[in-house]
Amino acid sequence: MRKLKVAQLKPGMVFDAPVYIDPNNILVQAKQELSQKDIDRLKKWGIEEVETSGQLVQEAKSGPSSNFDTKEEPTPVSASFSAEALRLHSEYEQLRKTRNQFRNRLAEYGKTLEQNWKLLNEKKQFDNQSVLKISQALVEDIFTVPLIIIAARYNYVSSNPMIAHAVHAACYGIHLGKALNFSRPRLQEVCLSLLLMDSGMTRLPMDLYTTKKDLEDQEKNAIRTHPLIGYKMLLNDARVKASLAVVALQHQESFNGKGYPQGLSGGQIDVMARIARIVDTYSAQLEERPYREAKLPYDAMKNLLSLGTEQYDPKLLRAFLGCMGMYPLGSLIELSTGQIGLVVGANAEKPLRPVLRLMRDEKQLPYSGLSFLDLMEYTQVYIVRAISEKESGVDLEQEM
Ligand SMILES: [Fe+2]
Repeated sequence: MRKLKVAQLKPGMVFDAPVYIDPNNILVQAKQELSQKDIDRLKKWGIEEVETSGQLVQEAKSGPSSNFDTKEEPTPVSASFSAEALRLHSEYEQLRKTRNQFRNRLAEYGKTLEQNWKLLNEKKQFDNQSVLKISQALVEDIFTVPLIIIAARYNYVSSNPMIAHAVHAACYGIHLGKALNFSRPRLQEVCLSLLLMDSGMTRLPMDLYTTKKDLEDQEKNAIRTHPLIGYKMLLNDARVKASLAVVALQHQESFNGKGYPQGLSGGQIDVMARIARIVDTYSAQLEERPYREAKLPYDAMKNLLSLGTEQYDPKLLRAFLGCMGMYPLGSLIELSTGQIGLVVGANAEKPLRPVLRLMRDEKQLPYSGLSFLDLMEYTQVYIVRAISEKESGVDLEQEM
């Protein structure tokens, strides 16, 4: 790593490795163009130097060029044996043992939810006990093997994308609630409220969710009715507690008061609805939609952080970043050594230093056994970028 004077940085410069503000904070990713805004930010914070191990691969758009030319030869790293790496290793083995049963249970949860959504839609007696049982079971699943939240994303839940979304969001909600030290009954409530938050959508045409075209204003307005419709349905038709139904009503409210339907802000919004706002948005970005591809977890997290305190409760967002990481659990990443890893453990203090399961060596060959790497142990190695399954050649459904 070598230091670059902030005074020498110019907008338009591109380096082939990340530029760091300090060992835990990246200014720009490898191959990402430096902007005037980035430079202004550094000056505003009084930062005079940044660090990179990369080379300048694109000159500034204007102004004098620089002669940044040194590059350290990256050395592949082998497995580490920190307490955290060992703990995650054994948890991962447990995940592998129980994965098939979990896969079957997930499909069962999806089926039960689908039946109940149908009942709600037809204004028939809703079986809220069966949905409560799913919540209890899912909380127990995640307590028993926390890494299940990685597997859940790759397993079939339902052919109905709204049901799959509800279950995925519920998994992230439980994970966040655990990080906040919520009790089990409280986590079950978080889960139940997330499973039901979009109930109002069942009364709207499915086309609104599956269409490839841009929605007309009238259709957008129809979608904006789903929190209130859902709230009323849950209270009247499903006999769900008001304290849980309120999450359906408020899950589209923004922390800055610019959400809907009531335009509530800050503490006026129920804490579970503030959790819902975060995990709903995060989870939706990872899902493929007819009009866009699924986003990488890293990009989804980056988007959340860029909207930050305007839309989300800052304390909850920080906790979510802490328990997921900047390269969130389940991300595939490329290391500066050329190795590819799957993020399996978040580091709340240092979101850029997770624990990885190594998936490919520096020659892109698979590892024969399970190898885990704690990036806290190898400070000379860093994450270059998040990478898709397709680009990495890793098939997580098969190789997890
Ligand atoms: Fe919604």
